[in-house]
Amino acid sequence: MSNQSFNDWQPLVEKAKQASQNAYAPYSHFSVGAAAYTSTGKIIAGCNVENASFGLTVCAERNCIGHAVVNGEQKFTSMVIYTEQTKLTPPCGACRQVIAEFFESSAQVMAVNHLDQRKIWSVFELLPDAFTPQDLINKD
Ligand code: THU
Repeated sequence: MSNQSFNDWQPLVEKAKQASQNAYAPYSHFSVGAAAYTSTGKIIAGCNVENASFGLTVCAERNCIGHAVVNGEQKFTSMVIYTEQTKLTPPCGACRQVIAEFFESSAQVMAVNHLDQRKIWSVFELLPDAFTPQDLINKD
């Protein structure tokens, strides 16, 4: 689903906002929710889950994708990242790599905040020339 309209995004925005309310972020106090449409039309959400061993923190985007895979969904058409930050939250580098694994390069990712400010990127814009499963085909 490319170039979704403002209204098409709304169910994802609501699910991502709900997910952010379940974020486990006692260290950063930076709650993030993510929600994605699967190619079968389902919405799957995730939130960030931190750890006292800080490096084990998992971002909302990767938990969202992992949650979907557990439920048998491996293809996605769009994702929303929700935070209550005046500067919109873009996906981190690690999440860009994981998004590139499961989304078409033309798929869209939108950051949105509590003020309903929005920014949309294509997956290609987030990670041009990504290393993908195609790079492992016909390896020497
Ligand atoms: N975080 C996400 O969940 N997604 C992002 O796109 C950026 C960062 C989380 C990780 C950590 O729990 C907190 O935000 C601060 O980095």
